[in-house]
Order: sequence, then structure tokens, then C-alpha cells
Amino acid sequence: MVLSRNQFDLVIVGAGAIGLSVARAARAHGLSVAVLERGTAGRGASWAAAGMLSPLGEALEPGPFLRFGLHSLDLWPDFARGLAEETGEEVEYRECGKLRLALSESEEERLRGRLAWAREHDVPAQWLEAEEVRRGHPGLAPVVRGALFLGRDFRVDNRRLVHALRVACVNQGVQLFEGCEVTTLLTADDRVHGVQLSTGEGVGAGRVLVAAGAWSGQVAGLPRPLPVRPIRGEMAALRPASPGGVASPQGGGLHPLGGPVLESERLYLVPRDDGRILVGATETDTGFDPGPTVGGLRRILAEASAMVPALEAALVEEVWSGFRPGSPDGMPILGQIPGVRDLFVATGHYRNGILLTPATAEGMGKLVAGEDARHLPEAFLPDRFFGPDDGSH
Ligand code: FAD
Ligand code: GLY
Repeated sequence: MVLSRNQFDLVIVGAGAIGLSVARAARAHGLSVAVLERGTAGRGASWAAAGMLSPLGEALEPGPFLRFGLHSLDLWPDFARGLAEETGEEVEYRECGKLRLALSESEEERLRGRLAWAREHDVPAQWLEAEEVRRGHPGLAPVVRGALFLGRDFRVDNRRLVHALRVACVNQGVQLFEGCEVTTLLTADDRVHGVQLSTGEGVGAGRVLVAAGAWSGQVAGLPRPLPVRPIRGEMAALRPASPGGVASPQGGGLHPLGGPVLESERLYLVPRDDGRILVGATETDTGFDPGPTVGGLRRILAEASAMVPALEAALVEEVWSGFRPGSPDGMPILGQIPGVRDLFVATGHYRNGILLTPATAEGMGKLVAGEDARHLPEAFLPDRFFGPDDGSH
């Protein structure tokens, strides 16, 4: 297909979890959709993530993020089921819970504070004293003072997710073009009418959605560049020395199948069904510096074995890094770009793009199809960065 000869109802820039999931939703609303991806679909942050679905674990305070995150979590079971029915691909959605460990007095105080929000939002949460935590997880180091068990923090395999989304899109007739870099949005008379590629070709579109993750700020042709910056995260995947868990069988196994995610303020350990444990993650706000680095890996691996001493003997199977799409206020940027008709953005998901995939697809899918956007919180509108004095530039 010669791309430049085509005209689509909707062109989406970027094939991460966000671009692909909105493409699938828009296609279900009857739009003709092309997704243009400069590299390989699903190999950006959505591939690099840990796959935690953690609204309460990730919220810094009660508010729009927590509400949207809980709404997205509610959508996850049907979203995973729908993808499996459409594609035959499982995404390893597991309702495993999360144990937020307190390793210091101040961490314990902050975690106890979350109990109140959890109750307000009907989220099952329970404080466990150190003894109780160690009884359930004998592999944990004695430094653990207690833990908050979050009964509605789950996990999914994000690499399987982007694979399933890609299959679903292609099955449903979304046109996916890889190795296809968008440089500029084409606008005239305050309305978008397509995009220009790095080859110089133009692609016609009735509507355009920018979903280019951490690179969204590099797409030219908006009234102002999107204020998105890359926040690098480095991770490792470990294979525990004893099958079924990192502690000895007598010790009960730390991460048997179905075990919770373990997290402190410095580190998380996320189990996978294949027996691996993902260890993450660093946070570096220094641009698109490549990774992973010796320093970053040394830190997370040292923290991991300090939390669970038996991890000293685990094999390091894989290391990687990725760029979270960060916004100035840490919130997603979802909606229509003010002043340019038919131009939309869905980015800035920072640490939670996998959690927020179903809710973003639902809200943005409706918006690009011309339906109401009730499910998109006002606090996430792009308008906050496009006023005369928004302070973000
Ligand atoms: P991406 O997946 O990065 O996709 C953007 C795509 O756009 C890329 O494929 C890129 O190549 C393409 N692109 C860029 N520029 C152009 C262009 N000009 N033309 C065409 N294509 C372009 N979230 C969670 O919910 N739970 C977690 O546990 C979690 N853990 C994380 C751990 C790490 C280490 C990292 C890095 C992130 C983590 N996240 C997590 C965050 C989550 O990964 C992101 O918020 C989410 O993946 C963003 O999705 P996206 O589709 O916007 O971006
Ligand atoms: N949500 C986990 C991370 O971004 O590292």
C-alpha cells in the first residue's frame, strides 16, 4: 500500500499500548484507522514496563488519578477477556494484590495514611504487623517493620498485552505501518488534515491523535510542543534459584504462583507466571540517555537482595530500560488540543500507562469518534498546557 495515497478517518502517531488500544477502540466505533510507528510496534515504554496495575500503590494523594486508575482497574477484567476472545492471546491478568512494605518508621507512617484513602474508595486494604508479614513471606529480610496489603492492586504481562493489542488491531482492519516516522502535523485554517513523514510523504487524515509516548514533544506542528519528557527506568528479570519461589521450600517460597507484588518506596518485585521476578525500577530525569547503566542495575539489584536475601543466588536473565512519558504535573494529557480542530493527544501516562490503558482507550475512543468524553477527567485536559500563561514552557 502506498501510504501517501490514502486518506484515513484517524491517523495515530505511535504504536505503544496507548496508540494501539485507542486504535482498536476507534475501529470498533467504525472509523478507518492508520497507526504510524517509527520503530516496531509495542517496543517503547509499553514493552519496558513492569505491568503493575496499581492505582492505590501509585497514587500520591486521593484525586483524579486515583479515581481514573480505579475506574481503569474495573475495566481490566473485561478488557483482558475481550482481547483473549478476539485474538486467542492471554495477557496474564492476575488479581494478585500488592504488599507495600514499610522499611522505616516514616515509610510506615505514610503507608498507614493510605489506609484512610483506601476506605474512602472502598479499596480492600489491611495493615499487617511485621510478624504476620514474615509468617506469610519468610524470605523477607528482618528490616521489614510491617506492610499494607492492597487487595485491589494487580498485574498483567505488558509485553503480552502489546502483542495482543497489535494482533487485535490488525485483525480488525487497523492499518499498522512500522518504520514510519511522523515529523510534523499538517494543519490549515486551524484544523489538522494529516501528517508528514520523515520521508517527506504526507498522509491525509480527518483526525490525528498524538500517542508517541516520551517522544510526543518532538512531533512538530502543534501550537506549542507537548510538554512531555522522558523519565528513564531501568529493570532486571531474575530467575530464583529454587523453583516456585526465592525462599527454600521449607521457608514457604516468597513468590509462589499467584503471590502478591512486593514493593517498598525504593523497589518493587513483580512475579511472572513463568517463574521470573521483575525487579524495578530506577527513575532518571536526564533526557534520552541510553540504559541500562551499571549504576542503575547495581542499585536495584542491591536493594532486591537486601529485601529478600535469597535473591543473591538468583540468575539475572535480562536487563533493560525504557522511557516513561512524564508530564509537568505527573498526570496524563488526554483530549483535544485547543485551537486545532480534530487534533487529539493521549500521552503523559508516566508510571501508569499500562494500568490506564483500558480507561484511556474507552475515553479517547469515544472522543475521536465524536461521542461524549465523560470518562476523561477534566484534570487531564491538554488545555492546562495551552493557555496564555500555563507555566510549563
Ligand atoms: P510507548 O509505549 O513508549 O509508545 C510510544 C510509541 O511511539 C513508541 O513505539 C515510539 O517508537 C513511537 N513513536 C515515537 N515518536 C514517533 C514518531 N515521531 N512517529 C511515529 N512513532 C513514534 N505502567 C504501569 O501501568 N505499570 C507499571 O508497572 C509500569 N512500569 C514501568 C516500568 C518502567 C521501567 C517504565 C519505563 C515504564 C513503566 N510504566 C508502567 C509506564 C508505562 O510503561 C507507560 O506509561 C506506557 O507504556 C506509555 O505508553 P505509550 O503508548 O504512551 O508509550
Ligand atoms: N509503575 C512503575 C514504574 O514506572 O516504574
